Formats: sequence, structure tokens, C-alpha cells
Amino acid sequence: MDYVDDIVNDLDQFAVSEIMKYNIPTLDNYNDVVNVAIELGKKLNANLSVIKLGSRFLDIKLGEATNEKKINEHITKSLGFAKEFLSKYPFEEDVKQKVFACIMEHHCKKFSYIESEICANADCYKFLVPKKILRMFYNWKQRGYNFEEIFLLAEEKVEERWSALTLDVCKKELEDNYNKIKEFLSLARKDPISFVSVINKKEKKFVDGE
Ligand SMILES: [Fe+2]
Repeated sequence: MDYVDDIVNDLDQFAVSEIMKYNIPTLDNYNDVVNVAIELGKKLNANLSVIKLGSRFLDIKLGEATNEKKINEHITKSLGFAKEFLSKYPFEEDVKQKVFACIMEHHCKKFSYIESEICANADCYKFLVPKKILRMFYNWKQRGYNFEEIFLLAEEKVEERWSALTLDVCKKELEDNYNKIKEFLSLARKDPISFVSVINKKEKKFVDGE
């Protein structure tokens, strides 16, 4: 299936135009999910053509759905887009079904294929890597969220994505990150005064007759 690389070029062009329009997902998240999914696919001997396509389609309509305040519909919208897009190419039916499963199951914990499990796990890396958490503060500020809202979302997303991981290889790779990010966020909740050691002052006590 050599033509997959040509097809993903077309797909990338469309994805980038959506990202430019809505800025959701961010370009770095789009690239990271694709690259992580491909590396996991190689490690686990999955069908790389399915992964190259599936990982690109996952959130391709997330920006449009968010803009319409219908974020929960992003899977249906992305699936509809993928069906139309792939209908132009002569793919085998089982390849298409696997790609569609990658989209439909990317927020699930039960999977029909190893490729859909890989894409869902790759999608979790965006909240389990320190650099991505820092980027999240920068990006979500630009979307109009305030500091406390982003902080709460970061705490939620880290827990949500850690418990969503199903592949042992990913849990093993990310466990240290998860613990460090969690510890850092919990430390970051504290104000500077918490880090100043309080001197135990012994106040003079007045006693009767003094
Ligand atoms: Fe999604």
C-alpha cells in the first residue's frame, strides 16, 4: 500500500487548514499523536498504514465541533469526514474498518483492533509529558481560560489520561512522568509562604508577681 504516504500528504494539508482555522487541536499535538502512534505501531507490529491514517483522523473535526460548542460530536464528525475522504481511494474494506475503529474508539478502553488501541494510547501522551503540560498553559490561555481553570483542567487531564492508558509499554514509559507531573502540580498549588520555615519563637510568658 505505497500510496498511503501520498494520501497522508493530502490529509495533512486538510488537517493543517483546519488547525489554522480553529487552532484546535494544536499543530504540535496533531504531529505528536501521529508520531507517537507510528512508533508504538512499529514496536507492536501493527498495520502502519492504518495507524498513519487513523491517528490523523482522530480529532480532525475537533476544532469545528468545539467552535460549534458540540465537542462531544467530534468523533461522529471526524468519522463522517474520514468515510468521505477514504471513499476516493481503493482501500480494502478491512483497512477502512480498522481506520474507522481508530476514530470511534479513541476515547474508549475497549478496542476492536491493536491499531485502535495504539491510537487511543498515543492520544494520552499529550497530557503525560511535562513539555505538553507547560504548552497546555500557554495554549489554553490563548483560548481565554484563566490560570485557575487551566490548573484544574491540567490536574484532571493528567489523571484522566493516566487511567485511560491500556498498553503496558505506555504505562511503563509514562509512569515516572505521571508521578513527577502529579507531584509538581501538587507542589505548585502551594503559595511561596508554605516554603518559608517558620521560626519557633518562644514568647516570654508573664507570671503572677512580675
Ligand atoms: Fe478526541
